[in-house]
Amino acid sequence: MRAAEDERLRLSHELHDQTGQTLIAATLAAKDLEKSLDADGRHRLAKLNVLLGQMGRTLHQVAWELRPASIDELGLAATLDNYVSDWCEQTGIDAEFYCKETNIDTLPNDTRTTIYRVIQEALTNIAKHASESRRVSVVISRVGTMLQLMIDDNGDGFDLNEKLATPNKYGSLGIPSMRERLSLIGGTLEIESSKGVGTTVFARIPIEPEEVLLP
Ligand SMILES: Nc1ncnc2c1ncn2[C@@H]1O[C@H](COP(=O)(O)OP(=O)(O)OP(=O)(O)O)[C@@H](O)[C@H]1O
Ligand SMILES: [Mg+2]
Repeated sequence: MRAAEDERLRLSHELHDQTGQTLIAATLAAKDLEKSLDADGRHRLAKLNVLLGQMGRTLHQVAWELRPASIDELGLAATLDNYVSDWCEQTGIDAEFYCKETNIDTLPNDTRTTIYRVIQEALTNIAKHASESRRVSVVISRVGTMLQLMIDDNGDGFDLNEKLATPNKYGSLGIPSMRERLSLIGGTLEIESSKGVGTTVFARIPIEPEEVLLP
């Protein structure tokens, strides 16, 4: 079971990191080609770029939807607990995980997969961009009729407006994907960050009162 799950995670990373990088290289190569083409050639190249863009989106979607088998086997909270422990070991950063909602596994499958992926992407971002971080916490709680995920670090921080003003054309699928996947289940993403202080990612997902019953 563990092997099958590791394989899914490996595939998911491979798609996102390896194949994704190759696709970015192909997009850059196409851009480079543009200069040496006439109008007709550029027109045909534009069609190729549309196809490359579609491939990128499909790739990302498949990587997101590869669902760790242990969500069903162990439950979401235990799966995340294991994930956070492995993450700490790999990165050498201390992280705490609290799930204050005891009936989280009564939520629909796509909601649980989204919760897992949002936390995974936020932690990957911390490892990649906030490696100076020394204190990370991941908390799942309920605020009224919302399930709230909070992923907090005290790393480098970043200027969100600056990032939004100059979006990286060839990368940065992480935050847009979190936002898009949350919006598919009616949820929202909010990021608070300041340079030198740290970053907090909030994801809020509306839940029906009967979906998560009090114990
Ligand atoms: N926790 C964080 N601390 C500091 N900077 C961050 C953090 N999270 C995101 N960022 C900044 O926001 C940018 C956008 O993040 P996003 O996840 O969208 O893209 P990425 O991680 O660069 O690439 P991808 O997720 O597609 O592999 C990052 O490049 C980084 O500069
Ligand atoms: Mg990212």
